[in-house]
Amino acid sequence: MVSSFKSDLMKVLITGASGFVGTALTQKLIQKGYEVIGVSRNPMKQQDRQGLRWVTLGNAPETDAVIHLAGENVLGIWIESKKRRVYQSRIEGTRRLMETIHSWARKPTVLIGASAVGIYEDHGSEIIEENHGSDSEGGFLAQVCHDWESENRKAEKQGVRVVLTRIGLVMDPSDGMLGKQWRTMKCRVCLLPAKPADYLPWISLEDLVRLIIYSLENNQVQGAINATAPHPIQAQEWMDELDRYFKFWIKGFLPEFFLKPLGKEFCQVLYSSKRVVPRKLLDLGFEFSHSTWQKYLASLFPDS
Ligand SMILES: NC(=O)c1ccc[n+]([C@@H]2O[C@H](COP(=O)([O-])OP(=O)(O)OC[C@H]3O[C@@H](n4cnc5c(N)ncnc54)[C@H](OP(=O)(O)O)[C@@H]3O)[C@@H](O)[C@H]2O)c1
Repeated sequence: MVSSFKSDLMKVLITGASGFVGTALTQKLIQKGYEVIGVSRNPMKQQDRQGLRWVTLGNAPETDAVIHLAGENVLGIWIESKKRRVYQSRIEGTRRLMETIHSWARKPTVLIGASAVGIYEDHGSEIIEENHGSDSEGGFLAQVCHDWESENRKAEKQGVRVVLTRIGLVMDPSDGMLGKQWRTMKCRVCLLPAKPADYLPWISLEDLVRLIIYSLENNQVQGAINATAPHPIQAQEWMDELDRYFKFWIKGFLPEFFLKPLGKEFCQVLYSSKRVVPRKLLDLGFEFSHSTWQKYLASLFPDS
């Protein structure tokens, strides 16, 4: 068990702070008394507030810790130009971040880099822990994650503790996979692009934010960690549990050919089964607020 301690890390640089995860993370860190510097391509469009200031990467000041979330959203039609943006925003973006850190006289203590469960290929019902190994020879997304992690790891040579969060499908009614379907679900329709038996490596946004802060504050967290709930759920059960609250009139699984226009490789990612388990975090004693899909939904619908 790791004893959780309040570290003296107070100034944190976050790339992608304006995004879905970054916004929630920034709010929580400010609440906890951290000073946050948000990196954005458009800092003028973002709003400064107490505890939060926006800069471009070129103007980033030295900080105690760095959280690197930025990257082109993978959702969309995977034509070559989109794939190039997905890849380059992460690989070139991380290289630029490494150069920035290299130029600092005082290095950050820790770098927490986003990665994704996309590093693993479809493994059916086989349990995937961190020591499973990444599938660098796999498809496009696996290659992106593999190269992205390698670029982040270069900070280790500068004496920085590097944590690579292999993030699952982040769930919150505000955005992400659940949020994007929330309105349709309220109209009692749920059509999921998956096969019923596929395992979904999900995590609540709240738990993702908690585990990133845990990784920031605990120096025993190091290397790749699966950032997913301890109990991945099959798509059929995912939908059936939602049905108990929404009482769908129409529900079902979209056949793969409907999504073919998004690209064959993107479909392969959507229609894949990943039974990912966060072994390292569990062994360290990290406690998830929403360990099961049932518990998570119960927290969203407290009056039901
Ligand atoms: N959400 C999920 O379910 C999930 C799952 C697995 C992994 N992840 C990873 O976790 C990270 C954060 O996810 P998120 O959902 O918060 O992402 P997001 O909402 O798409 O935000 C990512 C941020 O990256 C910056 N960005 C966007 N396009 C960019 C580009 N072409 N070049 C450089 N920067 C760009 C944007 O900031 P500015 O416009 O302010 O520069 C944006 O706010 C991402 O890297 C994502 O791949 C997310």
